[in-house]
Amino acid sequence: MKVLVVGGGGREHAIIRKLKENKSIEEIHALPGNGGMHRDAKLINVGAKDIDGIVKYAKENQIDYAVVAPDDPLVLGCVNALNEIGIPAFGPSKEAAIIEGSKVFSKNLMKKYGIPTAKYQVFSDANEALEYIKTAPIPTVIKADGLALGKGVIIAFTREEAEEAINSVMNDKKFGSSGDNIVIEEFLEGPEVSVLAFTDGNCVKPMVSSMDHKRALDGDKGLNTGGMGTVAPNPYYTEKIAEECMEKIFIPTIEAMKKENREFRGCLYFGLMLTKDGPKVIEYNCRFGDPETQVVLPLLESDLFEIMQATTNGTLADCEVKFSNKNACCVIMASKGYPEKYQNGYEMEIPSDIEKDIYVAGAKYENEKLYSNGGRVLGVTHVANTLKDAIDGAYSKVKKIKFDNAFYRHDIGARALMATEEK
Ligand code: AMP
Ligand code: GLY
Repeated sequence: MKVLVVGGGGREHAIIRKLKENKSIEEIHALPGNGGMHRDAKLINVGAKDIDGIVKYAKENQIDYAVVAPDDPLVLGCVNALNEIGIPAFGPSKEAAIIEGSKVFSKNLMKKYGIPTAKYQVFSDANEALEYIKTAPIPTVIKADGLALGKGVIIAFTREEAEEAINSVMNDKKFGSSGDNIVIEEFLEGPEVSVLAFTDGNCVKPMVSSMDHKRALDGDKGLNTGGMGTVAPNPYYTEKIAEECMEKIFIPTIEAMKKENREFRGCLYFGLMLTKDGPKVIEYNCRFGDPETQVVLPLLESDLFEIMQATTNGTLADCEVKFSNKNACCVIMASKGYPEKYQNGYEMEIPSDIEKDIYVAGAKYENEKLYSNGGRVLGVTHVANTLKDAIDGAYSKVKKIKFDNAFYRHDIGARALMATEEK
């Protein structure tokens, strides 16, 4: 079988590595992939948002199955376009990917079907939003409706910050047309949990839970990023909470999408906050999380390719989805300056004995050398019997990597470790 993986980051590298365990796969093509994957996949120089280019490549190269990993091509209808030429693909249709593509859609869906989430208002007029904010409870959360590279959420701790956020999103169009509509919602508090779940539109099988670290600096300081590190499982996510989420959130969401004629197949990401009033949905993503995938897939004991095919065929109920009881930690090594300005082109050396645990997010491979090429550059994962050993193992691997321009957080997993010790 020839499999095409659309996307190019650490998440895609983790997916590719796991797919390689399936013996029926002979070739994996990564589109565009990145230089750090050169040993694991054939790299294809086509952009992940170029739907026509992806379809053309898949057709000309007799691709048997495609995995569409990032949000943009999913929201643009990449799975629909591949299906139209007879190529099965993992991921939701454009109609279902709207659950991430539009926050107004997802909030209205949760309201209509009674799925617990923060209270909210939708605005298409900046003046009305500015008027509302004069008396709204503070802190408040302002979200651009559309995709905004993970930066479209602003938490305002004062009314002035809220006004500034509305002006920059709606009037100055900081995120382009993604800010034509905004959601203003209640500020929630509690530990955050990411739960990725496989679904074929009817059956939903959650993966092991995880905890992301979104801020750039230690102690949750600094700017929001795509994610600076993860651990799995998330100790706050107890079995009792998992049962409650299944009953009140996961199944109702899958059912709601079906009722809306937007049946969701693929991986649905539930961003949850465990508030004192119970778990609530902070966001849905229509895809695997990055860097959640880099800790979740290494713990998967079942065959990823079989599960993916079961989500496309509608046979997930009969397919085993089993995780080990171990712990995993992933530390992201980013370029100094990320998530703002940074420089590329630093030579990196990864010792061969740890290479299998490094998921490369942004690198170029030239003259048999690897050079940094992105904000998030490497994800360094370690799996162990305890959370503490997983964290220590990941950091000891980080120290073995030569990458002069790197910065990373030193406290990935610290909060989770505290929670385990409190138990
Ligand atoms: P998102 O881009 O939707 O993942 O949101 C980024 C981060 O903003 C989340 O991981 C939360 O930490 C935070 N956030 C989003 N919505 C809320 C909310 N209603 N209350 C508190 N924090 C929030
Ligand atoms: N790590 C958060 C995300 O993938 O959206």
